[in-house]
Amino acid sequence: MVHTESCEQGEKIDIMLNEKVVSLLNNQVNKEFYSAYLYLDFANYFDDLGLDGYCNYFNIQAKEEMDHAIKFIDYLQDNDEKVVLEAIDKPVINSTEIKEVLNQQLEHEQYVTSLIHAIYKEAYEAHDYRTMHFLDWFVEEQLEEEHNASDMITKYELFGHDAKGLYELDAKYGARTYTAPAASEE
Ligand code: FEO
Repeated sequence: MVHTESCEQGEKIDIMLNEKVVSLLNNQVNKEFYSAYLYLDFANYFDDLGLDGYCNYFNIQAKEEMDHAIKFIDYLQDNDEKVVLEAIDKPVINSTEIKEVLNQQLEHEQYVTSLIHAIYKEAYEAHDYRTMHFLDWFVEEQLEEEHNASDMITKYELFGHDAKGLYELDAKYGARTYTAPAASEE
């Protein structure tokens, strides 16, 4: 969609998002909703094991992923771009082993990071500074997401092999609370 803005000399110039960038942003809406779906299934997996704390952690993670999807939708809408919602794939958990499920989380977050970077690269090449600025939040968020996923693996390897350790880890993840995005972030 074309927007008209004034440049320094007062003449009008057209500002528009690159078509490929818009396509990738739309694709990312789907990927974030898929992430929410995947983590809801992780929550189901841990609920089945009786690990309510891990279940809580992934339910909250799913909410955050939905917030991410909405953030992309808002950005497209703010730029008068069409939002295209596609079908969300059925989530697949690759293993019945806790450690492997936690590894899957890390691998998934690394994949999401690669998607964010791919949009950033396209925006950079299109001199789309607005989208680059928008994506900065996600670049930082992915650092945190990967760190948290990696930390869950480390903690599980250190303490998860005996019942008491696992019980305490579960209590730790049970204490996680959801914080809705601030109005300025919506
Ligand atoms: Fe939206 Fe976990 O990345």
